Amino acid sequence: MDTNANLYADLKKVLITREEIAQAIRDLGQKITSDYQGRKVVMLCILKGAVVFFSDLIREVDLPLTIDFMAVSSYGASTKTTGVVNLVKDITCDITGMDVLIVEDIVDSGMTLSYLKKYLSSRGAASIKIVTLLDKPERRRVDLQADYFCFTIPDEFVVGYGLDYAEKYRNLPDIGVLHPRIYGGEDA
Ligand code: IMP
Ligand code: MG
Repeated sequence: MDTNANLYADLKKVLITREEIAQAIRDLGQKITSDYQGRKVVMLCILKGAVVFFSDLIREVDLPLTIDFMAVSSYGASTKTTGVVNLVKDITCDITGMDVLIVEDIVDSGMTLSYLKKYLSSRGAASIKIVTLLDKPERRRVDLQADYFCFTIPDEFVVGYGLDYAEKYRNLPDIGVLHPRIYGGEDA
């Protein structure tokens, strides 16, 4: 029995397979390991979307590091950003003098990360860099670039590997384009 049938049935197509994701994360982990030698690293997971990526990535980074979590919200049950970012959960460790790597699932409009960068620099971090699994550059509304990313994707709404639509599909092991009929989009 294909126990994933219900989730996969809502996809227009699989965009990135779990094997491709695993390979990209191994490469990214090696790059971070060599770039951050001798630094005081904090890897900061942005809940909830980045949690799957984060847990795989930190195990590919061969450095002493600490981890922390933040949660922000901007979407609700919609596929478009509201542009307003709310801080839902703050960090719990002191990041003064630390080299912070913000780990996100996707950079879309860029509003979330531009808010987070400003917020964290006000907390005294020595450096702040952005690590994202996916980058959707066509949709950018602010001037923001990820320092590290795994995949550039087209302007389509994707789910899986942590990414949700209305809190669903986070447990899908691959990344897929959600069928527009699920959210009443154009070619529904
Ligand atoms: P931004 O502030 O517009 O860059 O949005 C970032 C957040 O929007 C991400 O952390 C995701 O939670 C969500 N998001 C943006 N695009 C997608 C998508 O295609 N699928 C699922 N979530 C998305
Ligand atoms: Mg999110």
